[in-house]
Amino acid sequence: MLRSINQLDPDIVVITGDLTENGFLAEYDGVKKFVDRIECKDKVLVPGNHDSKNAGYLHFEDLFENRFSNKNFGGVTVVGVDSSQPDINEGHLGRENYGWIKEAFTGENFKVFALHHHLVPIPLSGRENTVLVDAGDVLDLLNRCKVNLVLCGHCHIPYVWKLNNMLVVNAGTFCSSKTRGKITQCFNLIQADNENSYGNWNVRVSRVFPQGNLELVTETVM
Ligand SMILES: [Fe+2]
Repeated sequence: MLRSINQLDPDIVVITGDLTENGFLAEYDGVKKFVDRIECKDKVLVPGNHDSKNAGYLHFEDLFENRFSNKNFGGVTVVGVDSSQPDINEGHLGRENYGWIKEAFTGENFKVFALHHHLVPIPLSGRENTVLVDAGDVLDLLNRCKVNLVLCGHCHIPYVWKLNNMLVVNAGTFCSSKTRGKITQCFNLIQADNENSYGNWNVRVSRVFPQGNLELVTETVM
């Protein structure tokens, strides 16, 4: 998987957790070494529910800077948020964060929002109880901000929803053995360009599998 990523030579890598099983320092040390092998200088990481267990969010802050981030990479804005709560599996963003997120998404950049928990239910994930508790308000916020792409993790099921003019892309299992059903390990490759004469974004979402083979999932203009 590392070879596949490095061969793709991505502009930005977004990792939506979980990074660890229990949030322990020894696990985080291993994760740090692994993430450092991804040859991309612009990375955004957000913690998942497992990463916040046992006060693990403190190690996250030490090793990967802030749990909340707002970064501009050329024409792309990536806002990453911590949707976890210590030792609780449910996700929550909270109204106190809506204001700065709205400000971060002003302008004409390609807008990406990254979080661990789901914003909408995902098939094959059983009884859905891990959508953000304030998912409706967050979806409305992101829709009003004209966010192009939402990246989620958590349930290990790769899936894409298109809501209004926003792609919600869920990540599958990347490098653990926690695959679901017949789905093998994979990561999502997002390609976006606005080099057409209308200035629209042409966005392709593909899945990349362990041998580096690629499967196009959706292509859309927004
Ligand atoms: Fe999770």
